[in-house]
Amino acid sequence: MPKPRKTTAKPPLRVLFAASEAYPLIKTGGLGDVAHSLPNALAHIGVDVRLVLPAYRDVLRRVEDLQVLGWLSLASGLDARILQGWHAAFGMPLWLVDIGHLFDREGNPYVGPDGHDWPDNPERFTRFSQAVALLAVDHLETGWRADVVHAHDWQTGLVPAWLEEVPKPPRRIYTIHNLAYDGQFDYTTFDSMRLPARWWSIHGAEFHDRLSPMKAGLMYADWITTVSPTYAREICTPEYGYGYADILNHQRHKLSGILNGIDTRIWDPAGDRHIAVHYRCDERLSNAKAANRRDLLKALDAPAKAQAADAPVIGFVGRLVDQKGIDLLFDAIPSLLRNTVVRFAIIGSGEQQYEDRLKALMEQHPARVFGFIGYSEPLAHQLEAGADLFAMPSRYEPCGLNQMYSLRYGTPPVVRRTGGLADTVVDSTRATLEDGSATGFVFDAAEAAALEAALRRALVLHQNPTLWHQIQCTGMAQKLDWDERARNYLAIYQGTAAPTGDDK
Ligand code: ADP
Ligand code: GLC
Repeated sequence: MPKPRKTTAKPPLRVLFAASEAYPLIKTGGLGDVAHSLPNALAHIGVDVRLVLPAYRDVLRRVEDLQVLGWLSLASGLDARILQGWHAAFGMPLWLVDIGHLFDREGNPYVGPDGHDWPDNPERFTRFSQAVALLAVDHLETGWRADVVHAHDWQTGLVPAWLEEVPKPPRRIYTIHNLAYDGQFDYTTFDSMRLPARWWSIHGAEFHDRLSPMKAGLMYADWITTVSPTYAREICTPEYGYGYADILNHQRHKLSGILNGIDTRIWDPAGDRHIAVHYRCDERLSNAKAANRRDLLKALDAPAKAQAADAPVIGFVGRLVDQKGIDLLFDAIPSLLRNTVVRFAIIGSGEQQYEDRLKALMEQHPARVFGFIGYSEPLAHQLEAGADLFAMPSRYEPCGLNQMYSLRYGTPPVVRRTGGLADTVVDSTRATLEDGSATGFVFDAAEAAALEAALRRALVLHQNPTLWHQIQCTGMAQKLDWDERARNYLAIYQGTAAPTGDDK
């Protein structure tokens, strides 16, 4: 009898991808975009990936074909019900961790209706993280055990710590999207949750007499990534390290910066379902942008005369918080309004003081400053298509997605040289205009005057249609999708990547 032939094909790598938000199920910022498009890109290159999320009420409403996979017993006598479901935006099963009162509530995943963090956030994400760890080692006995667990930001920082508690844990990867938010809590909370005592150590997750889930991720992961090479270097310095610079310096041998990609099917000016006129880089570009500008201004309730005007529009979309340097933009606006014909379109929500400033500017300049306070996915697309320039004066920016959307939409970004902004935008100088690499405008000081100077440089070039078209089209031609970046993650999963945090 012929012997059965040995198959040489390796089984696909199994990756459990754990996040606290994922577009289009629930999203507050860029993490949501990444937790949607990176797992899809990984599945596309043959990784057997499962995305696990908390079973927030909004998510339960959107996911289809829900079935109960089983129950997990967590510490302190809590049980987690594990659901599996599907959604058309994902090419993989979704696993949801349902711990009754912890996630089944309306609204934002992190903050309550009063604008403050949910007071039980430490408990919510500690329990979620434990459930993720148990799922990874197949406590439900479904036959699926992870080779790799990939956790993101403080909400899942304790996943690598929980996996320290099991024999032969899967490989643990931890990605920092924003070091400024570390989710720390006090000893009483730690004690009341009856967490493993050894976490409370300087060699564990203890951080200045508090428990830091972010530090747990850094200490217990086998490899740390962050979302751009420049941010990987910046966080090793006191200025950007939020107290973690020394720890990160010690971990440099296992730290990489991998630039985020964008979902080029959702963010595509040639097919975007939210915009008035589709376009690509050809001789119709400026007409199409003008039509989209009118559409944007209409959507923002600009007066009819303003809608019809041709003067350029500087756009902004984002959280109205310090990080984004929104105050620099607000400070620069009055002088730009005085000395140029430019207008502003600003979409965002966040700190009260900044929302109030935006309202005041809109009231003072109803024909030149337009805005929307709140969150609107369609408006964000309309703004990318309709604005002439995109301002992103961030004080720090781990990666930033909006500048990449802007590049793709022929809306040159004006950015501060930090983090992913520095890695994705090429300043327009004589040299870069000549060699055809210019894609936007970059400035250094986190000051309104520096932003204003960069915007003025941009407005001068905007008057030169040939050069402007060149800058737009160079941006639109950038390769910003996830394909290659997903392969970089695969190398990290397989343990074949070199650290890049200290490569310059
Ligand atoms: P961060 O994650 O720091 O907020 P990113 O640039 O990485 O910054 O991602 C922000 C994402 O959230 C982008 O997809 C952006 O379009 C979106 N976004 C932020 N604020 C709003 C808003 N008010 N309305 C619509 N989309 C928004
Ligand atoms: C964070 C960062 C942002 C990054 C996003 C996705 O929210 O602030 O710069 O693009 O995560 O990684």
